[in-house]
Amino acid sequence: MDYYRDRVVWITGASSGIGAALAVEMAGRGARLALSGRNRRELEAVRHQCQASNAQAEIFPFDVQQASQITDVAGKVLRHFGHVDLLINNAGISQRSRAVDTPLQVDRKIMEVNYFGNIAVARAVLPHMLRRGYGHIAITTSITGHFGFPLRSAYSASKHALCGFYESLRAEMADQNIHITFITPGRIRTSISRHALNEEGKEQGVMDPGQEKGMPADQSARIIIKGLRRHKREILVGRKEILMVFIHRFFPGIFYRIVRKISHI
Ligand SMILES: NC(=O)c1ccc[n+]([C@@H]2O[C@H](COP(=O)([O-])OP(=O)(O)OC[C@H]3O[C@@H](n4cnc5c(N)ncnc54)[C@H](OP(=O)(O)O)[C@@H]3O)[C@@H](O)[C@H]2O)c1
Repeated sequence: MDYYRDRVVWITGASSGIGAALAVEMAGRGARLALSGRNRRELEAVRHQCQASNAQAEIFPFDVQQASQITDVAGKVLRHFGHVDLLINNAGISQRSRAVDTPLQVDRKIMEVNYFGNIAVARAVLPHMLRRGYGHIAITTSITGHFGFPLRSAYSASKHALCGFYESLRAEMADQNIHITFITPGRIRTSISRHALNEEGKEQGVMDPGQEKGMPADQSARIIIKGLRRHKREILVGRKEILMVFIHRFFPGIFYRIVRKISHI
C-alpha cells in the first residue's frame, strides 16, 4: 500500500508551482489534502485535478501575512480532517533587487510571508501533533538558505531564518516523534521569479531565463515525495545548481569566485 494513502497533508502555497504539483502527485497516491493559498480560483483548479484521482481535497484559502487568520484556518483544517499527518509549509515569495536599493518595507514583507507566516502555521498545528504523538513538518527553503546570492538579500535571509527556527525545533522535538524536513529547491520551473518583488515592492512580472531552464515542477514533486516518505532531514531538488551547496561548503574560494560573476539570475 502506498505510504501516502489516507494520510492527511496540509499544503500551503498549493495554488501553483511546487505546492500544486505536490498536491496532484500526492492525490494520485491516495492522500487526503488540505490546500491553502490566497487565490481561491487557482486552488479550486488544483482541487479539481486532485479529485480527478478520486482523492479527498478541500481548499482553505488564507493569506499567511494575516496572523489572526492562521489559527482559525488551522482549526478548520483540523476539524475537517481530524488531524494533520504532514504539513508542507511551502508558501513563499522571492526578490529581485539589490540590498542597497531595497527599502525596509520590502525586506519586512518578504520576512512576513516567508518566515513569520510560515512559523505561525507550524505553531498552529504543533500542539495537535504533540497530543497525537506524531507529526511531520516540511518547510520549503531554498539553496539560498545555505548561502547568500545576488538580488536575494531579504529572500535568502528569510530562508536562513527558517533554517535556524526549524533546526532548533527539530532538536526540541527529537524525542517526541515530530519530524522536520527541509525541502531545498534549486531552480524549479514555476512562477516564483514572475512574482518576485523588485525594489518598489512590485512583482517583476517576467520569468528569469534561468528559471525557464529549471526542473519541471511535477518532476521536483516526485523527488520531494520520495524524500518525505523517508522522513529525510533535507531534500535537495533541482539540476546542477544544487551542487552550489557542496561547492559553498567544501570549496568556498571557488564558490565566491562564481557568485561574484553573477549579476542577475
Ligand atoms: N521555483 C524555484 O526555483 C524555487 C527555488 C527555491 C525555493 N522555492 C520555494 O518554493 C516555494 C514554492 O514556490 P514556487 O516555486 O512553487 O512558486 P509559485 O508558483 O509562485 O508559488 C508560490 C505559492 O506561495 C503562495 N503564496 C505567496 N504569497 C502568499 C501569501 N501571502 N499567503 C499565502 N500564500 C502565499 C502562492 O499562492 P497565492 O498566490 O494563491 O497566495 C503560491 O501558491 C516557495 O517557498 C519558494 O521560495 C522555489
